[in-house]
Amino acid sequence: MNSLSTNKEICARESEVLAKTQKIPYCPISFKSGKGALLYDYDGKEYIDLLASASSANIGHGNEEVAEAVKEQMTNLAQYTIAYFSCKEPVEYAEKLIELYPGDNNKKVLYSTTGSESIDAAIKLAKGYTGRNKIISFNGAYHGSTLGAISISAISLNMRRKMGSLMPDVHHFNYPVCIRCPYGKCEESCNLECLKEIENAFNLYLAPEEVAAIFFEPIAGDAGIIVPPKKYVQALSELCKKHGILFIVDEIQQAWGRSGKFFAIENFDVEPDIIVMGKSSGGGLPMGVTMGKTEIMDSLDAPAHLFTLAGNSTVCAAALKMVEIFERDGLVEQSKVKGEYFKNKFLELQKKYDIIKDVRGLGLSIGVDLTDKVTTTKIIYQCQQNGLVLISLGESTLRVQPPLVITYEQIDKSIEIIEQAIKDFLDGKIPDEVLSVINGW
Ligand SMILES: Cc1ncc(COP(=O)(O)O)c(C=O)c1O
Repeated sequence: MNSLSTNKEICARESEVLAKTQKIPYCPISFKSGKGALLYDYDGKEYIDLLASASSANIGHGNEEVAEAVKEQMTNLAQYTIAYFSCKEPVEYAEKLIELYPGDNNKKVLYSTTGSESIDAAIKLAKGYTGRNKIISFNGAYHGSTLGAISISAISLNMRRKMGSLMPDVHHFNYPVCIRCPYGKCEESCNLECLKEIENAFNLYLAPEEVAAIFFEPIAGDAGIIVPPKKYVQALSELCKKHGILFIVDEIQQAWGRSGKFFAIENFDVEPDIIVMGKSSGGGLPMGVTMGKTEIMDSLDAPAHLFTLAGNSTVCAAALKMVEIFERDGLVEQSKVKGEYFKNKFLELQKKYDIIKDVRGLGLSIGVDLTDKVTTTKIIYQCQQNGLVLISLGESTLRVQPPLVITYEQIDKSIEIIEQAIKDFLDGKIPDEVLSVINGW
Protein backbone atom coordinates (compact mmCIF):
# COMPACT_ATOMS: atom_id res chain seq x y z
CA MET A 1 0.00 0.00 0.00
CA ASN A 2 1.29 3.47 -0.91
CA SER A 3 1.79 5.89 1.96
CA LEU A 4 -0.71 8.68 1.56
CA SER A 5 0.42 11.96 3.04
CA THR A 6 -0.57 14.81 0.72
CA ASN A 7 -3.89 16.06 -0.61
CA LYS A 8 -2.85 15.12 -4.11
CA GLU A 9 -1.88 11.55 -3.24
CA ILE A 10 -5.04 10.88 -1.24
CA CYS A 11 -7.41 12.30 -3.85
CA ALA A 12 -5.65 10.49 -6.71
CA ARG A 13 -5.69 7.16 -4.85
CA GLU A 14 -9.30 7.70 -3.79
CA SER A 15 -10.47 7.79 -7.39
CA GLU A 16 -8.75 4.40 -7.91
CA VAL A 17 -10.27 2.58 -4.95
CA LEU A 18 -13.63 4.22 -4.21
CA ALA A 19 -16.59 3.75 -6.54
CA LYS A 20 -17.45 6.97 -8.30
CA THR A 21 -21.13 7.10 -7.37
CA GLN A 22 -20.23 8.30 -3.87
CA LYS A 23 -18.46 11.45 -5.06
CA ILE A 24 -19.82 14.74 -6.40
CA PRO A 25 -16.77 16.43 -7.93
CA TYR A 26 -15.33 19.54 -6.25
CA CYS A 27 -11.68 20.62 -5.77
CA PRO A 28 -9.42 17.75 -4.70
CA ILE A 29 -9.08 18.42 -0.98
CA SER A 30 -8.59 15.94 1.84
CA PHE A 31 -9.17 17.08 5.42
CA LYS A 32 -6.93 15.85 8.20
CA SER A 33 -8.29 17.65 11.24
CA GLY A 34 -10.69 20.31 12.40
CA LYS A 35 -11.61 22.52 15.33
CA GLY A 36 -14.98 24.25 15.59
CA ALA A 37 -15.70 25.65 12.14
CA LEU A 38 -12.09 25.35 10.97
CA LEU A 39 -10.61 22.53 8.92
CA TYR A 40 -7.02 21.66 7.98
CA ASP A 41 -6.03 19.66 4.91
CA TYR A 42 -3.10 17.28 4.50
CA ASP A 43 -0.94 20.09 3.12
CA GLY A 44 -1.49 22.12 6.30
CA LYS A 45 -3.86 24.63 4.70
CA GLU A 46 -6.65 26.13 6.83
CA TYR A 47 -10.27 26.43 5.69
CA ILE A 48 -13.45 27.89 7.14
CA ASP A 49 -16.17 25.29 6.83
CA LEU A 50 -19.46 26.57 5.41
CA LEU A 51 -20.77 23.06 4.79
CA ALA A 52 -20.48 21.34 8.19
CA SER A 53 -19.93 18.02 6.41
CA ALA A 54 -23.30 18.43 4.67
CA SER A 55 -24.98 19.62 7.88
CA SER A 56 -23.78 16.58 9.80
CA ALA A 57 -21.32 18.46 12.01
CA ASN A 58 -23.57 21.13 13.52
CA ILE A 59 -21.69 20.93 16.80
CA GLY A 60 -18.36 21.67 15.06
CA HIS A 61 -15.22 19.64 14.51
CA GLY A 62 -12.81 18.16 17.02
CA ASN A 63 -15.07 18.35 20.05
CA GLU A 64 -13.08 16.95 22.95
CA GLU A 65 -16.05 16.33 25.26
CA VAL A 66 -17.74 14.17 22.61
CA ALA A 67 -14.44 12.40 21.90
CA GLU A 68 -14.07 11.66 25.63
CA ALA A 69 -17.62 10.25 25.84
CA VAL A 70 -16.90 8.00 22.84
CA LYS A 71 -13.63 6.79 24.33
CA GLU A 72 -15.27 5.95 27.65
CA GLN A 73 -18.11 4.05 26.00
CA MET A 74 -15.80 2.20 23.61
CA THR A 75 -13.65 1.12 26.52
CA ASN A 76 -16.60 -0.14 28.60
CA LEU A 77 -18.65 -1.76 25.85
CA ALA A 78 -18.58 -0.40 22.31
CA GLN A 79 -22.01 -1.77 21.55
CA TYR A 80 -24.29 -4.69 22.00
CA THR A 81 -27.09 -5.04 19.51
CA ILE A 82 -30.44 -3.86 20.85
CA ALA A 83 -32.09 -6.33 18.50
CA TYR A 84 -31.80 -9.00 21.23
CA PHE A 85 -30.79 -7.35 24.51
CA SER A 86 -31.05 -3.90 26.08
CA CYS A 87 -28.58 -1.05 26.57
CA LYS A 88 -28.92 2.07 28.67
CA GLU A 89 -27.56 4.67 26.22
CA PRO A 90 -30.10 4.19 23.39
CA VAL A 91 -32.90 4.33 25.97
CA GLU A 92 -31.57 7.58 27.46
CA TYR A 93 -31.06 9.12 24.04
CA ALA A 94 -34.59 8.16 22.98
CA GLU A 95 -35.96 9.80 26.15
CA LYS A 96 -34.10 12.99 25.24
CA LEU A 97 -35.34 12.97 21.63
CA ILE A 98 -38.93 12.48 22.78
CA GLU A 99 -38.57 15.50 25.08
CA LEU A 100 -37.39 17.57 22.12
CA TYR A 101 -40.28 16.49 19.85
CA PRO A 102 -42.92 19.26 19.60
CA GLY A 103 -46.17 18.46 21.45
CA ASP A 104 -46.76 15.77 24.08
CA ASN A 105 -44.39 12.96 25.06
CA ASN A 106 -46.51 10.10 23.77
CA LYS A 107 -43.84 9.32 21.20
CA LYS A 108 -41.40 6.52 20.39
CA VAL A 109 -38.08 6.30 18.59
CA LEU A 110 -36.89 3.87 15.91
CA TYR A 111 -33.14 3.81 15.24
CA SER A 112 -31.36 3.29 11.92
CA THR A 113 -27.79 4.11 10.93
CA THR A 114 -28.38 6.71 8.19
CA GLY A 115 -30.95 9.29 7.22
CA SER A 116 -31.94 7.28 4.17
CA GLU A 117 -32.73 4.18 6.23
CA SER A 118 -34.81 6.32 8.57
CA ILE A 119 -36.81 7.53 5.57
CA ASP A 120 -37.39 3.91 4.61
CA ALA A 121 -38.55 3.30 8.17
CA ALA A 122 -41.06 6.13 7.85
CA ILE A 123 -42.35 4.74 4.54
CA LYS A 124 -42.82 1.31 6.13
CA LEU A 125 -44.50 2.74 9.22
CA ALA A 126 -46.84 4.90 7.13
CA LYS A 127 -47.92 1.89 5.12
CA GLY A 128 -48.16 -0.34 8.16
CA TYR A 129 -50.16 2.13 10.23
CA THR A 130 -52.60 3.34 7.58
CA GLY A 131 -52.92 0.13 5.55
CA ARG A 132 -52.56 2.39 2.49
CA ASN A 133 -49.97 2.20 -0.26
CA LYS A 134 -49.58 5.58 -1.96
CA ILE A 135 -47.01 8.20 -1.04
CA ILE A 136 -46.82 11.88 -1.94
CA SER A 137 -43.56 13.80 -2.08
CA PHE A 138 -42.17 16.81 -3.90
CA ASN A 139 -40.20 17.74 -7.00
CA GLY A 140 -36.68 18.73 -6.02
CA ALA A 141 -36.74 16.57 -2.88
CA TYR A 142 -33.69 14.60 -1.78
CA HIS A 143 -34.65 11.96 0.76
CA GLY A 144 -31.64 9.67 0.44
CA SER A 145 -30.02 6.75 -1.31
CA THR A 146 -31.75 3.56 -0.21
CA LEU A 147 -34.25 2.25 -2.73
CA GLY A 148 -37.23 3.53 -0.74
CA ALA A 149 -35.67 6.97 -0.27
CA ILE A 150 -34.68 7.15 -3.95
CA SER A 151 -38.25 6.32 -4.93
CA ILE A 152 -39.64 9.33 -3.11
CA SER A 153 -36.80 11.68 -4.16
CA ALA A 154 -36.95 13.71 -7.37
CA ILE A 155 -33.74 15.62 -7.83
CA SER A 156 -31.36 13.71 -10.09
CA LEU A 157 -31.89 11.18 -12.84
CA ASN A 158 -28.58 9.58 -11.89
CA MET A 159 -30.34 8.27 -8.79
CA ARG A 160 -32.85 6.41 -10.95
CA ARG A 161 -30.92 5.46 -14.08
CA LYS A 162 -30.15 1.71 -14.30
CA MET A 163 -32.30 1.04 -11.20
CA GLY A 164 -35.20 -0.68 -12.92
CA SER A 165 -38.47 -0.51 -11.06
CA LEU A 166 -38.45 1.46 -7.86
CA MET A 167 -41.20 1.61 -5.26
CA PRO A 168 -44.49 2.14 -7.11
CA ASP A 169 -47.35 4.51 -6.24
CA VAL A 170 -45.26 7.58 -5.49
CA HIS A 171 -46.70 10.90 -6.67
CA HIS A 172 -44.56 14.03 -6.88
CA PHE A 173 -45.99 17.54 -6.70
CA ASN A 174 -44.44 21.00 -6.94
CA TYR A 175 -42.81 22.33 -3.79
CA PRO A 176 -43.89 25.91 -3.00
CA VAL A 177 -40.96 27.78 -4.54
CA CYS A 178 -42.31 31.33 -4.22
CA ILE A 179 -39.31 33.06 -5.82
CA ARG A 180 -40.12 31.21 -9.05
CA CYS A 181 -43.89 30.90 -8.62
CA PRO A 182 -45.19 29.11 -11.74
CA TYR A 183 -48.53 30.91 -11.28
CA GLY A 184 -46.92 34.37 -11.31
CA LYS A 185 -48.27 35.12 -7.83
CA CYS A 186 -46.66 37.11 -5.03
CA GLU A 187 -47.18 36.83 -1.26
CA GLU A 188 -50.28 39.06 -1.32
CA SER A 189 -51.97 37.44 -4.34
CA CYS A 190 -51.06 33.83 -3.43
CA ASN A 191 -54.03 31.56 -2.95
CA LEU A 192 -51.92 28.47 -2.41
CA GLU A 193 -52.33 27.48 -6.04
CA CYS A 194 -49.60 24.82 -5.66
CA LEU A 195 -51.53 23.16 -2.84
CA LYS A 196 -54.57 23.11 -5.08
CA GLU A 197 -52.60 20.85 -7.46
CA ILE A 198 -52.73 18.18 -4.75
CA GLU A 199 -56.42 18.84 -4.07
CA ASN A 200 -57.14 18.59 -7.81
CA ALA A 201 -55.32 15.28 -7.93
CA PHE A 202 -57.48 14.11 -4.99
CA ASN A 203 -60.57 14.95 -7.06
CA LEU A 204 -59.37 13.54 -10.37
CA TYR A 205 -57.01 10.57 -10.15
CA LEU A 206 -55.48 10.07 -6.70
CA ALA A 207 -57.93 8.78 -4.11
CA PRO A 208 -56.88 10.47 -0.84
CA GLU A 209 -58.07 7.49 1.22
CA GLU A 210 -55.35 5.46 -0.55
CA VAL A 211 -52.55 7.87 0.38
CA ALA A 212 -50.49 6.75 3.37
CA ALA A 213 -48.23 9.78 3.81
CA ILE A 214 -46.94 13.07 2.55
CA PHE A 215 -43.16 13.42 2.91
CA PHE A 216 -42.14 17.04 3.28
CA GLU A 217 -38.87 18.87 3.82
CA PRO A 218 -39.72 21.84 6.08
CA ILE A 219 -36.97 23.69 4.24
CA ALA A 220 -36.23 22.19 0.81
CA GLY A 221 -32.50 21.65 1.32
CA ASP A 222 -30.86 20.28 -1.79
CA ALA A 223 -33.43 22.02 -3.99
CA GLY A 224 -31.73 25.28 -2.91
CA ILE A 225 -32.63 26.07 0.74
CA ILE A 226 -36.18 27.04 -0.13
CA VAL A 227 -38.29 28.20 2.83
CA PRO A 228 -41.99 27.52 2.19
CA PRO A 229 -44.68 29.98 3.29
CA LYS A 230 -46.08 29.24 6.76
CA LYS A 231 -49.64 29.23 5.46
CA TYR A 232 -48.71 26.53 2.92
CA VAL A 233 -47.17 24.24 5.55
CA GLN A 234 -50.14 24.68 7.88
CA ALA A 235 -52.63 24.05 5.04
CA LEU A 236 -50.70 20.97 3.94
CA SER A 237 -50.78 19.59 7.46
CA GLU A 238 -54.55 20.29 7.65
CA LEU A 239 -55.06 18.55 4.31
CA CYS A 240 -53.30 15.50 5.75
CA LYS A 241 -55.49 15.55 8.86
CA LYS A 242 -58.66 15.87 6.77
CA HIS A 243 -57.83 12.70 4.82
CA GLY A 244 -56.12 10.63 7.52
CA ILE A 245 -52.78 10.96 5.71
CA LEU A 246 -49.60 11.00 7.82
CA PHE A 247 -47.63 14.25 7.68
CA ILE A 248 -43.98 13.18 7.74
CA VAL A 249 -41.20 15.72 7.89
CA ASP A 250 -37.68 15.02 6.70
CA GLU A 251 -35.50 16.91 9.19
CA ILE A 252 -32.35 15.04 8.24
CA GLN A 253 -30.65 18.22 6.98
CA GLN A 254 -32.53 20.90 8.90
CA ALA A 255 -32.83 19.58 12.49
CA TRP A 256 -30.32 20.20 15.24
CA GLY A 257 -30.74 23.94 15.24
CA ARG A 258 -29.84 24.47 11.62
CA SER A 259 -32.82 26.79 11.01
CA GLY A 260 -32.66 28.66 14.32
CA LYS A 261 -35.16 26.27 15.92
CA PHE A 262 -34.28 22.77 17.09
CA PHE A 263 -36.52 21.31 14.33
CA ALA A 264 -37.20 23.37 11.21
CA ILE A 265 -40.89 22.42 11.38
CA GLU A 266 -41.13 24.47 14.61
CA ASN A 267 -40.88 27.59 12.42
CA PHE A 268 -44.35 26.74 11.10
CA ASP A 269 -46.20 25.84 14.33
CA VAL A 270 -47.19 22.44 13.02
CA GLU A 271 -46.88 19.10 14.81
CA PRO A 272 -45.92 16.33 12.38
CA ASP A 273 -46.95 12.69 12.77
CA ILE A 274 -43.40 11.49 12.15
CA ILE A 275 -40.03 13.27 12.21
CA VAL A 276 -37.06 11.75 10.39
CA MET A 277 -33.50 12.67 11.36
CA GLY A 278 -29.94 11.65 10.51
CA LYS A 279 -26.72 13.58 9.83
CA SER A 280 -25.92 15.53 13.04
CA SER A 281 -27.94 13.12 15.20
CA GLY A 282 -24.98 10.90 16.13
CA GLY A 283 -22.57 13.61 17.31
CA GLY A 284 -20.36 12.80 14.30
CA LEU A 285 -21.06 9.07 14.17
CA PRO A 286 -23.65 7.36 11.91
CA MET A 287 -27.18 7.62 13.27
CA GLY A 288 -30.67 7.69 11.84
CA VAL A 289 -33.83 8.40 13.82
CA THR A 290 -37.48 7.98 12.93
CA MET A 291 -39.82 9.10 15.67
CA GLY A 292 -43.47 9.87 16.11
CA LYS A 293 -46.70 9.11 17.83
CA THR A 294 -46.60 5.84 19.77
CA GLU A 295 -49.50 4.18 17.98
CA ILE A 296 -47.81 4.81 14.61
CA MET A 297 -44.38 3.73 15.80
CA ASP A 298 -45.76 0.48 17.23
CA SER A 299 -47.68 -0.43 14.08
CA LEU A 300 -44.99 -2.82 12.80
CA ASP A 301 -43.64 -5.98 14.42
CA ALA A 302 -40.00 -7.09 14.52
CA PRO A 303 -38.01 -7.52 12.34
CA ALA A 304 -39.73 -5.16 9.89
CA HIS A 305 -37.05 -2.50 10.48
CA LEU A 306 -34.09 -3.62 12.52
CA PHE A 307 -30.36 -3.15 12.04
CA THR A 308 -27.67 -4.89 14.07
CA LEU A 309 -25.71 -1.71 14.79
CA ALA A 310 -28.59 0.80 14.93
CA GLY A 311 -28.88 2.79 18.16
CA ASN A 312 -25.58 1.43 19.34
CA SER A 313 -24.20 2.58 22.66
CA THR A 314 -21.13 4.44 21.40
CA VAL A 315 -23.12 6.53 18.94
CA CYS A 316 -25.73 7.22 21.61
CA ALA A 317 -23.05 8.20 24.15
CA ALA A 318 -21.66 10.69 21.61
CA ALA A 319 -25.17 11.96 20.88
CA LEU A 320 -26.07 12.35 24.55
CA LYS A 321 -22.95 14.41 25.14
CA MET A 322 -23.80 16.49 22.07
CA VAL A 323 -27.32 17.21 23.42
CA GLU A 324 -25.78 18.33 26.71
CA ILE A 325 -23.47 20.73 24.84
CA PHE A 326 -26.32 21.99 22.64
CA GLU A 327 -28.34 22.89 25.72
CA ARG A 328 -25.46 24.26 27.78
CA ASP A 329 -24.06 26.44 24.97
CA GLY A 330 -27.42 27.50 23.51
CA LEU A 331 -26.45 26.33 20.02
CA VAL A 332 -29.98 26.65 18.62
CA GLU A 333 -30.10 30.31 19.66
CA GLN A 334 -26.58 30.81 18.29
CA SER A 335 -27.78 29.52 14.91
CA LYS A 336 -30.64 32.01 14.91
CA VAL A 337 -28.56 35.04 15.83
CA LYS A 338 -25.50 34.23 13.74
CA GLY A 339 -27.74 33.23 10.84
CA GLU A 340 -29.34 36.70 10.82
CA TYR A 341 -25.88 38.28 10.97
CA PHE A 342 -24.59 36.13 8.08
CA LYS A 343 -27.71 36.72 5.97
CA ASN A 344 -27.43 40.47 6.45
CA LYS A 345 -23.83 40.34 5.28
CA PHE A 346 -24.96 38.57 2.10
CA LEU A 347 -27.74 41.15 1.63
CA GLU A 348 -25.10 43.90 1.85
CA LEU A 349 -23.05 42.08 -0.80
CA GLN A 350 -26.18 41.78 -2.95
CA LYS A 351 -26.48 45.58 -3.00
CA LYS A 352 -22.96 45.78 -4.47
CA TYR A 353 -23.05 42.92 -6.96
CA ASP A 354 -25.80 42.28 -9.54
CA ILE A 355 -24.74 38.65 -9.89
CA ILE A 356 -26.33 37.91 -6.47
CA LYS A 357 -29.96 37.30 -7.31
CA ASP A 358 -31.49 36.11 -4.05
CA VAL A 359 -30.52 35.62 -0.40
CA ARG A 360 -32.81 33.52 1.78
CA GLY A 361 -32.97 31.06 4.64
CA LEU A 362 -33.57 30.65 8.34
CA GLY A 363 -30.85 30.48 10.98
CA LEU A 364 -27.62 29.04 9.62
CA SER A 365 -29.38 27.45 6.66
CA ILE A 366 -28.81 30.05 3.98
CA GLY A 367 -29.11 29.87 0.19
CA VAL A 368 -27.59 32.50 -2.08
CA ASP A 369 -28.60 32.46 -5.74
CA LEU A 370 -26.13 33.63 -8.35
CA THR A 371 -26.83 34.26 -12.03
CA ASP A 372 -26.01 30.87 -13.52
CA LYS A 373 -24.04 27.64 -13.25
CA VAL A 374 -20.80 28.91 -14.77
CA THR A 375 -20.66 31.93 -12.45
CA THR A 376 -21.44 29.75 -9.44
CA THR A 377 -18.89 27.09 -10.35
CA LYS A 378 -16.11 29.60 -10.87
CA ILE A 379 -16.85 31.43 -7.63
CA ILE A 380 -16.98 28.22 -5.66
CA TYR A 381 -13.67 27.11 -7.19
CA GLN A 382 -12.02 30.36 -6.19
CA CYS A 383 -13.43 30.17 -2.65
CA GLN A 384 -12.15 26.62 -2.21
CA GLN A 385 -8.71 27.73 -3.44
CA ASN A 386 -8.76 30.60 -0.94
CA GLY A 387 -9.63 28.56 2.14
CA LEU A 388 -13.43 28.37 2.20
CA VAL A 389 -15.37 25.12 2.11
CA LEU A 390 -18.38 26.14 0.07
CA ILE A 391 -20.42 24.13 -2.42
CA SER A 392 -23.49 24.71 -4.57
CA LEU A 393 -27.02 23.37 -4.74
CA GLY A 394 -28.80 22.95 -8.06
CA GLU A 395 -27.38 25.08 -10.85
CA SER A 396 -26.58 28.29 -9.05
CA THR A 397 -27.24 28.38 -5.30
CA LEU A 398 -24.44 28.75 -2.77
CA ARG A 399 -25.06 26.41 0.17
CA VAL A 400 -24.24 28.12 3.45
CA GLN A 401 -24.64 25.74 6.37
CA PRO A 402 -21.62 26.09 8.67
CA PRO A 403 -21.20 24.41 12.06
CA LEU A 404 -23.34 26.36 14.53
CA VAL A 405 -20.21 27.22 16.53
CA ILE A 406 -18.80 29.37 13.72
CA THR A 407 -17.52 32.67 15.15
CA TYR A 408 -18.43 36.19 13.98
CA GLU A 409 -14.81 36.67 12.85
CA GLN A 410 -15.06 33.53 10.74
CA ILE A 411 -18.32 34.77 9.21
CA ASP A 412 -16.68 38.11 8.34
CA LYS A 413 -13.67 36.32 6.86
CA SER A 414 -15.95 34.04 4.79
CA ILE A 415 -17.72 37.08 3.36
CA GLU A 416 -14.33 38.62 2.50
CA ILE A 417 -13.29 35.46 0.64
CA ILE A 418 -16.60 35.31 -1.24
CA GLU A 419 -16.42 39.00 -2.16
CA GLN A 420 -12.86 38.57 -3.44
CA ALA A 421 -13.99 35.56 -5.52
CA ILE A 422 -16.81 37.67 -7.00
CA LYS A 423 -14.31 40.42 -7.89
CA ASP A 424 -11.93 37.88 -9.44
CA PHE A 425 -14.83 36.49 -11.46
CA LEU A 426 -15.93 39.92 -12.68
CA ASP A 427 -12.32 40.75 -13.60
CA GLY A 428 -12.19 37.58 -15.73
CA LYS A 429 -9.43 36.10 -13.53
CA ILE A 430 -10.99 32.64 -13.09
CA PRO A 431 -10.24 30.54 -16.18
CA ASP A 432 -12.76 28.28 -17.94
CA GLU A 433 -10.58 25.22 -17.14
CA VAL A 434 -11.94 25.19 -13.58
CA LEU A 435 -15.29 24.17 -15.02
CA SER A 436 -13.87 20.70 -15.63
CA VAL A 437 -12.79 20.35 -11.96
CA ILE A 438 -16.13 21.12 -10.33
CA ASN A 439 -19.29 19.49 -11.57
CA GLY A 440 -21.88 19.79 -8.82
CA TRP A 441 -24.96 17.54 -8.96
C1 LIG B 1 -33.15 16.21 3.37
C2 LIG B 1 -32.33 14.94 3.34
N1 LIG B 1 -32.96 13.77 3.47
C3 LIG B 1 -32.27 12.60 3.46
C4 LIG B 1 -30.90 12.58 3.30
C5 LIG B 1 -30.16 11.27 3.31
O1 LIG B 1 -29.43 11.14 4.48
P1 LIG B 1 -28.17 10.14 4.55
O2 LIG B 1 -27.15 10.65 3.60
O3 LIG B 1 -27.72 10.17 5.97
O4 LIG B 1 -28.67 8.78 4.19
C6 LIG B 1 -30.22 13.79 3.13
C7 LIG B 1 -28.76 13.78 2.92
O5 LIG B 1 -28.19 14.64 2.31
C8 LIG B 1 -30.95 15.00 3.16
O6 LIG B 1 -30.34 16.18 3.02
